[in-house]
Amino acid sequence: MMVCEYKPGLEGIPAAESSVSDVDGQKGILEYRGIRIEELAQKSTFLETAYLLIWGQLPTSEELQAFEHEVRFHRRIKYRIRDMMKCFPESGHPMDALQASAAALGLFYSRRDLHNPAYIRDAVVRLLATIPTMVAAFQLMRKGNDPVRPRDDLDYSANFLYMLNEKEPDPLAARIFDVCLILHAEHTMNASTFSARVTASTLTDPYAVVASAVGTLGGPLHGGANEEVIQMLEEIGSVGNVRPYLEDCLQRKAKIMGFGHRVYKVKDPRATILQDLAQQLFAKFGSDKYYDIAVEMERVVEEKLAHKGIYPNVDFYSGLVYAKLGIPTDLFTPIFAIARVAGWLAHWKEQLAENRIFRPTQVYNGQHEIAYTAIEER
Ligand code: SDX
Repeated sequence: MMVCEYKPGLEGIPAAESSVSDVDGQKGILEYRGIRIEELAQKSTFLETAYLLIWGQLPTSEELQAFEHEVRFHRRIKYRIRDMMKCFPESGHPMDALQASAAALGLFYSRRDLHNPAYIRDAVVRLLATIPTMVAAFQLMRKGNDPVRPRDDLDYSANFLYMLNEKEPDPLAARIFDVCLILHAEHTMNASTFSARVTASTLTDPYAVVASAVGTLGGPLHGGANEEVIQMLEEIGSVGNVRPYLEDCLQRKAKIMGFGHRVYKVKDPRATILQDLAQQLFAKFGSDKYYDIAVEMERVVEEKLAHKGIYPNVDFYSGLVYAKLGIPTDLFTPIFAIARVAGWLAHWKEQLAENRIFRPTQVYNGQHEIAYTAIEER
């Protein structure tokens, strides 16, 4: 067996062959199944994009209608899962609640018929349909309210915002939220997708695959950064305080949340689109100081870190959009998960076709031939 050189974090090591998406980190290009993210953000919907990612091509009108109907039909969660969620502590982080609930789906549906296309489609539909409902349900429960039923007359994003806020959303807000889901749906071999593929490679059920990926996404170096960005903007508090704040970060060699990327060495194309979405929301619903602070941060970080290829990533402006949509900060990462389920499922299907368990090697740097020492001699 040929052993490659060890690279911490597997930096630059291909972990799979995939046709789901591609990133050019030098040019700032992201494509889903070969289509540029800017086109999908402008012309597609999240469910159409999910179909593209998972089945590899854009659906016909009939295929899309059938898919949307199946997802709409499966939005409700079993009362036993709802009862289980009622036992979760209100102080628990919604990402932990989501991970537990996603895994619980496996208790009801994981017949593991992995070579049956009908089982695969059923799992895809159930996960895309119920994850938003579980996020919204936990949010209402922890406020002491009963979850609201999904509304069949609302499309995917409008229904989620309705279940979350208990009122029908503004059409522009629902469209902007749907674009955010498109932007967060997939991103080649990021940490949570790698998690999903490793878990999928053992031929476990898709619910365990998604639960494993949710757990990975929650970390502040990955999907959890968007929550930290808003807290950082609040801590900075004014445009005038941006430079001293950043200089202190750099002095402490602290990572600035929402900046930097393992692949992009220019501004993340998703950040550019999210910045525009934030401006649209501010134009309609009124601006606030955080946008100005964010723009000043981007300017000063570029001045100080552009030479290292450190620019805004997807998490930098997404928090501003979600905050303007009235979404609580600790739901930012669960919303990232709602979108990324599409990418994880696309990679799950690809890994099933690969049919080879992940089992990398290691560089052993321990000792050999150590004698066992009796406890009385230690
Ligand atoms: C996502 O992989 C994906 O595709 C992820 C994602 C997706 O869609 O799935 O795009 C989503 O996770 C976006 C990233 C969200 N995380 C953050 O915003 C957290 C802050 N960012 C950093 O932690 C960091 O940039 C990472 C984790 C994102 C990338 O880290 P790398 O590639 O391991 O970079 P590195 O730590 O090796 O840093 C290289 C240099 C270092 O300086 P030197 O030691 O060489 O002098 O760049 C510096 C780092 O200190 N650096 C930063 C920095 N990020 C890197 N310095 C200040 N602030 C930062 N944010």
